[in-house]
Amino acid sequence: MKIAKSINRLGTEAVYDIFAETKKLIKQGKKIIDLSLGQSDFKSPNHVVEAAIKALKDGHHGYTLPNGTVECREAVSRKIKNLYNANVGSERIVIMPGGKPTMSFAISFFGEPGGEIVYPDPGFPIYESMIKYTGAKAVPYNLTIKKDFSIDVDSIVSLINENTRLLIINNPHNPSGSLTDKSVIDKLAKGLANFPHVVILSDEIYDRLIFDKKEIPTFFNYPDLYDRLIVLNGWSKTYAMTGWRLGWGVWPENLVEHVFKFCVNNHSCVNTSAQYAAIAALDGPENHLNDMVKEFTERRKLMVDGLISLKGVKCSLPGGSFFAFPNVKDTGMNGEEFTKRCMKEAGVAVVPGTAFGKFGINNVRLNFATSRENISKAIEKIDKYLK
Ligand SMILES: Cc1ncc(COP(=O)(O)O)c(C=O)c1O
Repeated sequence: MKIAKSINRLGTEAVYDIFAETKKLIKQGKKIIDLSLGQSDFKSPNHVVEAAIKALKDGHHGYTLPNGTVECREAVSRKIKNLYNANVGSERIVIMPGGKPTMSFAISFFGEPGGEIVYPDPGFPIYESMIKYTGAKAVPYNLTIKKDFSIDVDSIVSLINENTRLLIINNPHNPSGSLTDKSVIDKLAKGLANFPHVVILSDEIYDRLIFDKKEIPTFFNYPDLYDRLIVLNGWSKTYAMTGWRLGWGVWPENLVEHVFKFCVNNHSCVNTSAQYAAIAALDGPENHLNDMVKEFTERRKLMVDGLISLKGVKCSLPGGSFFAFPNVKDTGMNGEEFTKRCMKEAGVAVVPGTAFGKFGINNVRLNFATSRENISKAIEKIDKYLK
């Protein structure tokens, strides 16, 4: 068998190995507190679940258009108008099986040997994986604890050259939970005016999980960039719907036909009943989301206070998402050593920072979208193993 060389360049998400190991240990009867996978312990909202059930009962089980039903795309368009006061026609919106495909499609469209793609490190691992898969040069920009992992415009701009095809921004940020303020994104958008050949992929999947009532720093604020802006978002995090596999992308007009073809070649369409649920989520009440953000605010404090009470652990306060990304260097271990011992000696599953790039070497990621009891117990157990 001779498989394509490019397949060997694909990376992965190490979190799935930890997830599998956790499941195995639990099956063996071990008690593990799982703070690894990026999802919330909240259930999907009831009215959303009901909408999917109703759709199936009503016989909505056929294919839809590959870019999503008109109704679902119109619901996204309405939401964008309501949330960001931006006018985005439904013809530029593509419903996807999760947020992730918008990322892999976008990187596939612009990545090829000779091209360069600029992306965050630490950052969501699929950016680097897909860039390498396409044969493009992967150009990381480093987010550091010194700046609370927020974006430094000058360092990003300094990496752009005539070969740069795509710039990836993720705000709020996984794995650090950092939130880069709108004022900084304003500056970045202004700087990008000097590089009209660079397309922007703005991964805004955590944009509704922002704490302290801060403004959403969306790229929809810059209509001048719309003809080279791809926005990735979806239902997974905002509505606690990770396993539904529902996302949306907004694309420049001239790319939509290519995205459409990719959908036809790849998955034909997104699960039909899920698209009904998607509309219910967007058009329905937001109490569930508000409750989630309120609860996550408490859990964030519990998690960060707990982490900084540990010997050798430093942690900045996440501005968004549900992740804390402490630096563990002063424990005498790097992130990978810390993670292994944490699982073995404390029974707590976390993710090493290197799962998100080489600059995450001294960090680990912990998900605080779990019960307060789990967070407190996890901190207690980690404290014990560090002593
Ligand atoms: C930064 C970031 N972008 C995109 C995604 C993909 O989301 P989805 O589960 O909707 O594919 C994730 C999921 O963890 C993420 O953390």
